[in-house]
Amino acid sequence: MRYPFGPKWTQVLAVTASVTLAAAMFAGPATADNIADGGAGVLARVDNPYAGARVYVNPEWSANAAAEPGGSAIANQPTGVWLDRIAAINGVNGGMGLRDHLNAAVDQGANLIQLVIYDLPGRDCSALASNGELGATDIDRYEHEYVDPIAEILGDPAFANLRIVTVVEIDSIPNLVTNISPRPTFTPQCDTMAANGNYVTGIGYALAHFGALENVYNYLDIGHHGWIGWDDNFAPTAAKLADAANASGATPADVAGFITDTANYGAVHEPFFTINDTINNQPIREHASWIDFNRYVDELSFAQAFRTELTRHGFDPGIGMLIDTSRNGWGGSARPTGPGPTTDANAYVDGGRLDRRIHLGNWCNQAGAGLGERPTASPAAGIDAFVWMKPPGESDGSSTEIPNDEGKGFDRMCDPTYTGNPRNNNHMSGALPDAPLSGHWFSAQFQELLRNAFPPV
Ligand code: GLC
Repeated sequence: MRYPFGPKWTQVLAVTASVTLAAAMFAGPATADNIADGGAGVLARVDNPYAGARVYVNPEWSANAAAEPGGSAIANQPTGVWLDRIAAINGVNGGMGLRDHLNAAVDQGANLIQLVIYDLPGRDCSALASNGELGATDIDRYEHEYVDPIAEILGDPAFANLRIVTVVEIDSIPNLVTNISPRPTFTPQCDTMAANGNYVTGIGYALAHFGALENVYNYLDIGHHGWIGWDDNFAPTAAKLADAANASGATPADVAGFITDTANYGAVHEPFFTINDTINNQPIREHASWIDFNRYVDELSFAQAFRTELTRHGFDPGIGMLIDTSRNGWGGSARPTGPGPTTDANAYVDGGRLDRRIHLGNWCNQAGAGLGERPTASPAAGIDAFVWMKPPGESDGSSTEIPNDEGKGFDRMCDPTYTGNPRNNNHMSGALPDAPLSGHWFSAQFQELLRNAFPPV
């Protein structure tokens, strides 16, 4: 995966744009109305599906975690179940399929399961590590071999008492905003997907078909603050998300909310500086290269502001946000304990930031990262939950080329010797060495995440 944003481009536009951000206004009280609707046996939608929910623990991930030294301390945490190819619906290599997971959720006594819908045509157009099986024009296969069978299984009355969270197609809409021509961060693949409309068509189709099921909660992906937080990306991404939510028969009412930081590393909250700080007459927003004119310095402020922005584009005021906190903990000995020196803007921000990445655009198997906040319902205003959507210990991509039949490419952002590209402003990748293919178990990363967990495990 992918999360490029293009600092130079954003700098040019940042000076001409201004956005007034209202504080997040929604602080929906946790309601756990488990009210069955009129005899149909299907649960009526609730405002926040995570409130009062018991969330499914994926036994396959749990076994991998428990097999690691110290891993049993977190092996009972709920993580996302990724349907990352058509074959995953029935199970890959003898593993569990969708129906198996849903049955296991019922057996566990869980009432919420988290699925990641991730198989768009031309998937992961700005990177290579999570390229998928479907070509740019394979929209019919996506709709009829992927979405339809999933919707049919989800609609089985046997699962009517489960709240089913579907995270719909991470990275796709943000890529259509930031990685297309004429931006210097464009890729030909993203230009193709923008031109043929298949991301928007496919997402609309998925939203409409899952949204027709009363117990399904669609959450759309909004990238993260270090991608969409610039003025020239912010409103256009909300507008594109609205396009997708009105495509292929979908309406914004099919969208329960949005997720930020999926499989990324941005901190929930940077406690040692704010975007409005000025050091030696230097506003840090303009003078600290880490921030580089971004409007946000962390995920919570971004999520709350973007939530308000979305309501300006036709989404319901009741939408809730999720933050993937699986790997954004940044604990360990390198964690700052106070603000950086006030000598200049860079020293101040670099000394005080929890996020220890070499560059905000780095996304693959980041060295130094730790597990973040444990999954929690209703942690802050407008936030439905902290979730672990990316299962900790599963790789973001291989650090060298590995032949495979999953459609996965080799992205040099996963190679620790790589010196970067325009999407991370030509910095070192910061990736751990010796990583396996994306989605495959990466023991060394799991160990590091455990070691650097914050809150500590
Ligand atoms: C990556 C992989 C995908 C995997 C997921 C969760 O995006 O491409 O195959 O399921 O991460 O680890």
